[in-house]
Amino acid sequence: MRTLIRLAKPWIGEDERRAVADVLESGQLVQGALVERLEQAIAALVGRKHGVAVSSGTSALQLALKALQVGPGDDVLCPALSWPSPAHAVRAAGARVRFIDIDPHEWNSGAEALREARTGSTKAAIVIDQFGNPAHAQEIREALGSLPIIEDAACALGSRFVNGPCGSLGVVSCLSFHPRKILTTGEGGMCLTDDDAIADKLRTLRNHGQLGGEFVVAAGNSRMTEIAAALGLAQLQRLDEILRRRRELAALYAKALDGALEIQLTPDGAESNYQTFGVILPQGFDRKSVCKKLHNRGIEAGVLSFAIHKLVSFAGSDISLPIAEHIASRGIAVPLFPQMRNVDVEEVVRALLGVLDE
Ligand SMILES: Cc1ncc(COP(=O)(O)O)c(C=O)c1O
Repeated sequence: MRTLIRLAKPWIGEDERRAVADVLESGQLVQGALVERLEQAIAALVGRKHGVAVSSGTSALQLALKALQVGPGDDVLCPALSWPSPAHAVRAAGARVRFIDIDPHEWNSGAEALREARTGSTKAAIVIDQFGNPAHAQEIREALGSLPIIEDAACALGSRFVNGPCGSLGVVSCLSFHPRKILTTGEGGMCLTDDDAIADKLRTLRNHGQLGGEFVVAAGNSRMTEIAAALGLAQLQRLDEILRRRRELAALYAKALDGALEIQLTPDGAESNYQTFGVILPQGFDRKSVCKKLHNRGIEAGVLSFAIHKLVSFAGSDISLPIAEHIASRGIAVPLFPQMRNVDVEEVVRALLGVLDE
């Protein structure tokens, strides 16, 4: 039988193996020169003053909310369609999540929806570049005025807004380096900011609340290891090639699926990294059964995303956000990773359209 076409697969080569082995050899395993080098390299890439490496994209969001002093009594705006991390982080900070519906084509929350949802208790807005698709940064900034924005750019390293790189929108922007993301450190993440005081707070918060030899705040350990940073630095050498290939593969999918299935659209003038390629199944198809049939044909596919307000962790929320619910209930993610071959895309499309035609 043919090998399974995986949904995602990090591109790990000899450089990554050697970089990790060198760290193990050195004996310096945590918070050393490599973490700093990765912070500087990513901050420079996105045009930010500071990068603060942490243990995951989720930790980056949690620390960003703490650094902005979001807490009980505050509201935070948050798109309803995503992995639950941003909303869970708001809850963990003791604040209330105000869920916002998404645009039906781009699958991000737009400027107008964010502006309308804002109340007197709104302390911050989380803006997501979902699946690497850039949000409308300029319009959102104008719509929200002085309200602090935390950009959840977990999926969006290498993507570009109409005016500038993703990761440049938030007072703090958060990246993830999970293996399904553009560049991986195993688990890992980073906060990006231009604000010196916020960067200092983030560095204190990730390291048990330590500042100048004192424990000044009760905080945990969200540090990145040197092993992870070495992996990330090796991956960074491949970033241009990873982005080029992902865009090529996404263009092949878009062409082959044109007119057949709904896919995510990128704003005019912006550029996605296609961290995830989603398709929306037509009405009447059961997602689980479609994924199972695809698996039988040698293709791994999975749930695209979640309507977070409908998860058990938000049980009791009776709001209805129809577009997020529609995309969440019908969306599947199909394979896309840099080492995929063009014929694999053709195979996925043939299988998918075949399953829907049965
Ligand atoms: C939009 C978004 N935010 C945050 C995260 C959390 O990142 P991590 O898995 O590194 O904690 C994810 C992970 O999938 C995500 O998709």
